[in-house]
Amino acid sequence: MEWMAAALQNVGMTAATLPLIAIDGPSGVGKSTTAKRAAVRLGWQYLDTGAMYRAAALAIQRAGLDLSDRASLERVLATLELSLNEGRTYLAGEDVSEAIRSQEVTVLVTPVSADARVREVLVEQQRRIGASGRWVVDGRDIGTVVFTQACCKVFLTASPEARAQRRFLELRAKGQSPSFEAVLADLQRRDLADSTRAASPLRKADDAVELDSSDLSLDQVVDWIVARHQAHL
Ligand code: DC
Repeated sequence: MEWMAAALQNVGMTAATLPLIAIDGPSGVGKSTTAKRAAVRLGWQYLDTGAMYRAAALAIQRAGLDLSDRASLERVLATLELSLNEGRTYLAGEDVSEAIRSQEVTVLVTPVSADARVREVLVEQQRRIGASGRWVVDGRDIGTVVFTQACCKVFLTASPEARAQRRFLELRAKGQSPSFEAVLADLQRRDLADSTRAASPLRKADDAVELDSSDLSLDQVVDWIVARHQAHL
């Protein structure tokens, strides 16, 4: 059980910590599924911040907006009515859970999530949501920016090949027939963009513990996170 060792290190909780588990990491590492399952196991709520960036990208796409048009961007952000409920994402009351997973939105969300003003607006909403209750939150900057006082921070990684293989199998199961090379190239494009952008780039928080899930099952990763959390209590 070598992979479990870091989870069981007792690091102790301080008065400043918040009842939040922050899970950051690159695209396709299985953060959402892991975070959702960990939340169910603990009886906590789950917040998918990636869905929020995707919904913002969809709103920008529908407005036919160019990100360089700052006045129009401000208007869209001022009227952005975003909500998440029971795993569904809503934009002004409309269920956009499927629409935000389209390839167009997946491409557009990279520049949208790199925009400092978009991040400012969404981070404020995320903090408001996280201020009540107990949450498992996944994203890219949760431990470094959004909830620096989270009681437990996990940086989940896996090799690009392992992530591409999982994504490739998922797409095949959905009846699509992508090439493995195309899936890998898309993940590498997103890794590079997420980790080199100026605004809140993807990086491990100093006090986060890293878990490489390349050779672990989903259940093992969830067990590890729950054990890690319990080691803080
Ligand atoms: O996790 P995801 O693929 O659904 O995220 C969609 C995009 O949003 C992705 O390009 C990374 C970005 N993102 C971010 O910049 N910060 C977050 N906290 C969550 C997601």
